Amino acid sequence: MSRSAHPAGPRHADVVPEGHYAAPPADLNVLDEKVWSRTVTRDADGALTVGGIEVARLAEEFGTPAYFLDEADFRARCRAWADAFGADADVYYAGKAFLSRAIVRWLREEGLNLDVCSGGELTTALDAGMPAERIAFHGNNKTVDEIERAVEAGVGRIVLDSFQEIVRVAHTAQRLGKRQRVQIRVTVGVEAHTHEFIATAHEDQKFGIALAGGQAAEAVRRALTLDGLELTGIHSHIGSQIFDMAGFEVSARRVVQLLAEVRDEHGVELSEIDLGGGLGIAYTSDDDPREPHEIAKALGDIVTRECEASGLATPRISVEPGRAIVGPTAFTLYEVGTIKPLEGLRTYVSVDGGMSDNIRTALYDAEYSVALVSRSSDAEPMLVRVVGKHCESGDIVVKDAFLPADLAPGDLIAVPATGAYCRSMASNYNHALRPPVVAVRDGEARVIVRRETEEDLLRLDVG
Ligand code: LLP
Repeated sequence: MSRSAHPAGPRHADVVPEGHYAAPPADLNVLDEKVWSRTVTRDADGALTVGGIEVARLAEEFGTPAYFLDEADFRARCRAWADAFGADADVYYAGKAFLSRAIVRWLREEGLNLDVCSGGELTTALDAGMPAERIAFHGNNKTVDEIERAVEAGVGRIVLDSFQEIVRVAHTAQRLGKRQRVQIRVTVGVEAHTHEFIATAHEDQKFGIALAGGQAAEAVRRALTLDGLELTGIHSHIGSQIFDMAGFEVSARRVVQLLAEVRDEHGVELSEIDLGGGLGIAYTSDDDPREPHEIAKALGDIVTRECEASGLATPRISVEPGRAIVGPTAFTLYEVGTIKPLEGLRTYVSVDGGMSDNIRTALYDAEYSVALVSRSSDAEPMLVRVVGKHCESGDIVVKDAFLPADLAPGDLIAVPATGAYCRSMASNYNHALRPPVVAVRDGEARVIVRRETEEDLLRLDVG
């Protein structure tokens, strides 16, 4: 789902490759640093190294398929976001992109906050020592149990997503003798330029309360009357893998408009505005993501300008990047198993993972890059489709790409930019064992989420 993706376009029977792979790159041995994490390099033999360790060594020690996460890059991205937004704003890492206890510790150390959207994410966050006040709790259908746990733990904010939830959270907080800080999530009516399944600001969808028709204003009215709630702000998340700032601009403008209406009606100036996450990353050479400081400046300018126009004090801004932090920091390493050339069409390269470790290609028509990483090669480029080992012809990891024609079973290939929404959306389809996540830093590699085992499968299956 890079910008060139065309969800409605030809899918599986197309002969001519789509998008950016219309022509092979000049040299397949050259890595485009845009799509690889920062410490990735190729050594003299053409083997890829990350954090100073060669992939062949990583494959030997940890097996394939596996995700390798560049810890230095992750931390650097956290710092870049925190620095860009500064002391007057808050950055919440969206845990749904990928969450583990190590990630929580790094976030804590780098000064970021955390957005969770389930009891499981909340437990992981608290267990790894994220202070509750630095946690925001999201979700369009939080269970009463989840709400109770969040309120009891003292999370910094719960983002209310529906009229029912306003009442549920208020009652829970009251029952527990607390006053819960909350924001209301609104849908601002923006059509984000991204895949339909990850666009969230248009009105015809499950998230949030519409600004249109006065719904959001009514939600504010109700929230302000309930003792268990302290309404601090308004939240808007317009979608994911977005490059164009125009959608954020409209969103910010409409949210500020609501703040002005609230002031006029209730005499209350809400002090927070959360503009969500959704900033795009480079999956292929065609994608040109913005740097955090550009994003911070653009959003800050818009909010300040709109607030000045409405005579409001500028509220505290927060953002919730997930993909933009973790996405570029990991790659998936696979071993090539079988190779099936189809004359005049393409060559199918089967790897030892597939849609169970990366569902994004099948689900969103996402585009990825791929490279041979265990050696260099001077062979001609060959058009390939990288597929998995699942019993499904839609089990595609990389739809159209070029790899050297001398590719052979046993070679290692890597798909970059798989840090976000790959392990976190991984499944056990065909009783696949979900791959480990290995953090690599300064010549050391350590497992932060271990590989699943067949015993894990049998343990869950209680007979
Ligand atoms: N905040 C809220 C309220 C969200 O719903 C999301 C993502 C984020 C922040 C973080 O968005 P990010 O910066 O990571 O784009 N599975 C899809 C993405 C679904 C995103 C869901 N919500 C994918 O693989 O593209």
